[in-house]
This record gives sequence, structure tokens and C-alpha cells, in this order.
Amino acid sequence: MYRIIVIILAVLTALYIIPTAYLNYTEPVEHWDWDEIDVDDISFPDNFIWGVASAAHQVEGNHTTNNWAVWENTSFPDGKPHIARGEKCGLACDHWNRYPEDIKLMQELGVKSYRFSVSWSKIMPEEGVIDQTAIQHYSEMVDSLLAAGIEPMITLHHFCHPMWFEKKGAFEKEGNVADFVEFSKHVFLPLKDRVKYWCTLNEPAVFVIAAYFDGHFPPGKQDPKLAAEVLKNMYLAHVKVYENLKMFDGAEKAQIGIVKNMHQIDPMNDWNLFDRLLSRTVNQGFNGSFIGTFTKGVYHFSFPTLVDLKAKVPNAPYTLDFVGLNYYSHNAMDFSLNLDEALKTRMYPNETPTDMDYTMYPEGFYRAIKEISVLNRPIIITENGVADADDDIRGEFIKKYLYAVSKAIEDGYNVRGYHYWSLMDNFEWDLGYDERFGLYEVDFETQERTLRKGSKEYQRIVKAN
Ligand code: FCB
Repeated sequence: MYRIIVIILAVLTALYIIPTAYLNYTEPVEHWDWDEIDVDDISFPDNFIWGVASAAHQVEGNHTTNNWAVWENTSFPDGKPHIARGEKCGLACDHWNRYPEDIKLMQELGVKSYRFSVSWSKIMPEEGVIDQTAIQHYSEMVDSLLAAGIEPMITLHHFCHPMWFEKKGAFEKEGNVADFVEFSKHVFLPLKDRVKYWCTLNEPAVFVIAAYFDGHFPPGKQDPKLAAEVLKNMYLAHVKVYENLKMFDGAEKAQIGIVKNMHQIDPMNDWNLFDRLLSRTVNQGFNGSFIGTFTKGVYHFSFPTLVDLKAKVPNAPYTLDFVGLNYYSHNAMDFSLNLDEALKTRMYPNETPTDMDYTMYPEGFYRAIKEISVLNRPIIITENGVADADDDIRGEFIKKYLYAVSKAIEDGYNVRGYHYWSLMDNFEWDLGYDERFGLYEVDFETQERTLRKGSKEYQRIVKAN
């Protein structure tokens, strides 16, 4: 009997305790002792780019011909509206008309860079049709930014595309990538003389998981195999856009990158080997498939029993002049044999909550920077911010997250700039207007913008650095 117990204990130690302890050591869910940290002890290099970010659909208003316009007018099979409270994007911040006023807000903050996206559906409302007035609009906006001493950074695809593209199957079909390349050329050619920074796609993995895995973004599909295919095609689309744009005269000056959200995925209980293995698997799909594509040119997206897709994305490692990093928080994976339960988004109960299901986790910012630095490219933070309608934690958020960035730079990571999400409150996709990410509060009745108290931390840090 005694021997059997010893053998069981030995097997348990070998198969469970040793690997779990090893993973806890090599992949810790880091938590810093903030009582010991002086968050004001930060410094940023000369020429560090300070900016703010937005996206066309979320701020411009009057999007009537893109994938979201149709989505917001329809419901899930159970009758629930696709957008929280049945809200419509509508006029949003009316940024299309009010951008001159918004540029003044950027000047008031002291930022020198504005990351925004152009609206494919406004530029190409129908297949093959270019609306020159839309191109002219962005051209004038670029001129106004430059005149105000603010560098434009353009994103070509930020979760939105025209309905005609959606109807063709969007990025579900590799052949449709050519449409995106064509659109990119129409934007790049008239603006390349004035715009240096270009982001091809915003957070493909976030978009794909929401649109094709969970189904809460348009087109609302729940098909893991298709999701894997779409993600591969989006990475391929980045490569094709990069290669095509770089062929134009003067394009060597353009800095072209992709934007990746390095959301941290961790075990709920780090002594539970099953939570560990689950979080590693999800992390491989969400982050690892990106890293593999852009370091080795090999895309691999897999989840046991659901999907296993491996494909070459040739040349991908040679198509980044910089990498855009978005970071907000982390999620805890809690193993269950029930797949829906296992894949649920969970927060750590002992971390400060925000208005969204993102807890405050600045340590993860440092980890995200470290992880993405394997690409060996300059890193530009293209988004980071907090949903905080009461403005209780925005100031603390800004200080702690920027502390993490400063520490990463001090430790040698090549971070060149930071864009706060967002300049002003806006339309937060399926969550509608309740999530308040703005440095400026927006009164959507009057379109009045007011600088929040907590945002003054950002203004102070920008001006001091
Ligand atoms: C990011 C999106 C951005 C905004 C923030 C809160 O994932 O890129 O448009 O919705 O989240």
C-alpha cells in the first residue's frame, strides 16, 4: 500500500507538479508591487512620438454603406439587437465635419501624431467606383494636421469595409484580397507625399474572433475553421498591400506596418495545469499565430477538436517597417470540459475593474512589448486607453501604463511612440456609446467636447516629455 502511494505521488510530481512549477517560473503571471514603485519615475527618449488615436466608423458619422451599417439594423436570432441597447452609430462625433475643431483639441493636449482610419466605404461606395470628394476630404484633413504640427498616421482597415466587399465574402476568400490592395493604392497615391506612417490592418485577430468565432461583430458567424482562414487571408492582405505600395515612386520613405493587439491570456489559477494548457492554446491562436507569420512566414492557428490550419505566408517577415502594438488588459482562462465555458472571457477578481471587461493590468503592457519585440522592428504603440465614464481611474491608468512603457524602453525595448485611445468618446462597436474611452468627454446631443480631469495626466506627461 505504502509503495503504491509513493508511486502515485512520484507520477503526480513528474506529470503535474514539475511541469506546472516550471511554467510558473518561465511564464509567470507577473504582478508588480505598486506600493514600491514611483510611477512618476518615467523618462522617454528624444523624438518619442506622442499621439492619440481614433477610427473612421467610431467618430466620423454617416456610415451608411459599410458592414456595420447593415449590422446595426438587424438582430441576433434570439431577437437581441446586434448593438447594445439597439443603438445606432449615426452621427457619432461628427468628426467628418468637426475635424478642424478636433485638431485644436490635439494641440491643446500637446500631441504630435494622430492615428486615424480612412473609410473604405466612403471612398469606394460601390465596387470599382471612387468618390473623389472622400479622397479630397482626407487630403484636406492631412493638410490641416500637418499645418498644426501633427503627423498623420493612416489605418487602411479598422474593422470596417464596404457592404459590396462583405457581400463578396470579404476576407473569407483569398481572391478578394486584391480588392483591398486596389483600395489601398487609391488612398496611398494621393497622400504618400504627406503621410509617412501607414497601418494596413487594425487588430486582425480581434476582428476575426469577434466576427467569425464569437459572432458579435458582422457578419456574425461562428465558424472556427472559417475564422482561421479569414485571419490567414488578412495577414496575406497585409503582405500584398505592403509589397504593392512599396513599388510606387517615393514609397521607400513610407513606414508601413500592421497593428497587433497583444492581449495577454493567462491561467485563472496558475497552479492548475489545465488552466495553463488552455491559456497557452488560446494564446497560440491569438498571439502566436501572428508572431509565427511575421517571424517565419508560417501561419498556424489551431484549437484541439475545432480547427488546425497551417499555411505559408511567404515574405511576411519582410513586410514590416514597424509594428503597431495595441494593448489594454488580460483575460483569465478557466478550464472546463464544456467548450463554451472554457472559452469565456473572464477577469481576475482581485484586479481593479474598468467599465469594460478589461481589468487594470499595466504589467501586461511590459509583457506585450517584450513579446512583440521578437519581430525585431521598431514598436509604435498605436492604442492604449481605458473605458471609465466616471473618470475615477483614468489618471491612475495613464500613469501606470506609461510607467510600464517607460520601463520597457529603459530595459532596451525599441518603443518609438504612444497613441492614447481615444482622443474623444466614440462609438464602441457592439457595445455602443456607453464605453467612454475619450480624453475628451463628448456630449452626443450637443457635440460639445470637454477635457476630463484624469486626462490631464496625459497632457502633463506629454508636455513634460
Ligand atoms: C480596440 C479597437 C478600437 C477600440 C478599442 C477600445 O480593440 O481597435 O477600435 O474599440 O479597442
